[in-house]
Amino acid sequence: MKSSKIAGLGYYVPKNVYTNEDLTKFMDTSDAWIQERTGIKERRFADRKGETTTTMAVSASVTAIERANISVEDVDFIIFATLSPDYYFPGSGVLLQRELKMKEVGALDIRNQCSGFIYALSIADQFIKTGMYKNILVVGSEKHSFAMDFSTRGRNVSVIFGDGAGAALIQPATDGSSGILSSHLHSDGSYAEELAMHYPGTSGGKWLENKPNWSEQELGGMFVTPEMLENGALYPYMNGQEVFKKAIVKFPEVIMEALEKNNLKKEDIDLLVPHQANLRISKFVQKSLGLKDGQVFNNIQKYGNTTAASIPIALCEAWEEGKIKDGDLVCLAAFGAGFTWGSALIRW
Ligand SMILES: CC(C)(COP(=O)(O)OP(=O)(O)OC[C@H]1O[C@@H](n2cnc3c(N)ncnc32)[C@H](O)[C@@H]1OP(=O)(O)O)[C@@H](O)C(=O)NCCC(=O)NCCS
Repeated sequence: MKSSKIAGLGYYVPKNVYTNEDLTKFMDTSDAWIQERTGIKERRFADRKGETTTTMAVSASVTAIERANISVEDVDFIIFATLSPDYYFPGSGVLLQRELKMKEVGALDIRNQCSGFIYALSIADQFIKTGMYKNILVVGSEKHSFAMDFSTRGRNVSVIFGDGAGAALIQPATDGSSGILSSHLHSDGSYAEELAMHYPGTSGGKWLENKPNWSEQELGGMFVTPEMLENGALYPYMNGQEVFKKAIVKFPEVIMEALEKNNLKKEDIDLLVPHQANLRISKFVQKSLGLKDGQVFNNIQKYGNTTAASIPIALCEAWEEGKIKDGDLVCLAAFGAGFTWGSALIRW
């Protein structure tokens, strides 16, 4: 069975930089609080009118396709990871297909939040291994800035997230030694509500408790109600401490799972590119695995947490900076909403 490799990488971040100081204009927070708790100094927010999750994905994809030395017509499948799609449905994969003027290829949207890129990569790997596709475009893109509570009420969440996109073009590996060695995916749905955007959704029945006499017409609009707006229920919710506690256990666990599967050791990792959840989490993981500074790549300081986009952005930046060379052992790992988590080990 063929293995697969990353043949091209690209990323895009919006031009608008918002520093921590900028956020203090909308909410009661401080540069010191944000940096101490998360390591973030600034993040990018998409242009409110012109940029969407899809337009950012287009920019990242064009670069990844060019770097793989293929053309758009050669792409035979799209896997799009996002929690902030342009539309509730259809997914952003078909919008990307349209904007790039691609052939009528399949487009799969996946919803695995911060682990989205690892899940997408793993799916691409399986399709390449079976020979079903030869050039798969894997994208992670997020426009968080359109659905965040920028008042003091939402500060524990809104200071963390930023916008951006990353893309990877996946192909069969031509030699026997390089490529994706393995991927490992996990979830624990008992934490589903601890990091979530509960509405809009079809679970809105609880809002009926105060509305015993709603008409059928009103019930037809339960997806979004004025009460949800008033209560801030349309914004993401995060139990930060629960996320932190679980993340610092699951990150090292799933990295070790990948190493053990391939009979490799922590010292063999040339570069760990963790999902950029929070610098404190990355440092914790680095310490618990005993990795040196040069073995772990972080760029959350500049972009905040870009969820499904964070790994491809970081991977691309690390590669552009010459931190990944042929033959290197690169480990990707993620943890996030669901909870879901995963890892992938790549021989570059
Ligand atoms: C979110 C996180 C930084 C919050 O840090 P924390 O130490 O747990 O903070 P708490 O939520 O206990 O809040 C501590 C205080 O800071 C306040 N606070 C919360 N956000 C704040 C902000 N942006 N600025 C200033 N103060 C803030 C709280 O209101 C609370 O005040 P109180 O003590 O008067 O009630 C931390 O839990 C974390 O890093 N969690 C992981 C989150 C993560 O990585 N998410 C990404 C998902 S993949």
